[in-house]
Amino acid sequence: MRGFLAGIAVTLIVVFGGGYLVINRGWIPVGADNPPGSWERSLAHMAVDTYVEAHAPKQENPAAPTAANLGEGARIYEARCALCHGSGRQRISPLRTKFSPPAPQLVNRVPRDPDANFWWITKHGVRLTGMPAWDGILTDDEMWKTVSFLKHWDKLPPEAVAAWETAAGGPLQPPQPAARQPGSAGAPQGAAASK
Ligand code: HEC
Repeated sequence: MRGFLAGIAVTLIVVFGGGYLVINRGWIPVGADNPPGSWERSLAHMAVDTYVEAHAPKQENPAAPTAANLGEGARIYEARCALCHGSGRQRISPLRTKFSPPAPQLVNRVPRDPDANFWWITKHGVRLTGMPAWDGILTDDEMWKTVSFLKHWDKLPPEAVAAWETAAGGPLQPPQPAARQPGSAGAPQGAAASK
């Protein structure tokens, strides 16, 4: 029995001591220009997906996809989100891979995630990534409208397209054939929103 307990103690010392040493010696690359490895990526995705699924409100988007709401969503998106997530004028942000994990490009392929999950992520952000919590900066209503825009940008009514173009500062670029690079959100989908 004593040998067994000593075995457990030694194992714990090796595991925690080894972990401490790795951190203490500076062996973990902390620069944002180090893309996450595949195991880190899948574990982190699992953690975010499960937590968001458990905490996002179980409700429909209260911001109906009217021309006014979608135009307002486009305006907020271009002002607050496009820098990292891509804009109507430049569908793939040059900053896309400058985050670790990379920033998903949200106006190159229409996301399928439930509106409430996207709303929760927008409000609370994601720890240890570049995704800020917008709570207190945007109202809940503004966040719902932004999410509504993200789910409908491929089929906007003409007034909302005009609002998006004004906010983006010029004509909309068609979705880009995004090579399967990290954070590029895969292949484009649908026609150019401006056409
Ligand atoms: C400074 C850069 C930055 C800004 C500005 C930013 N985000 Fe993000 N966002 C990120 C990064 C990086 C991630 C990836 C986080 C991860 O992998 O868990 C992310 C993830 C997300 C996701 C999850 C997407 C998915 O496919 O899982 C949503 C939704 C989102 N952001 C919405 C927004 C909205 C809406 C705004 C504007 C109100 C915004 N973000 C502004 C960097 C940013």
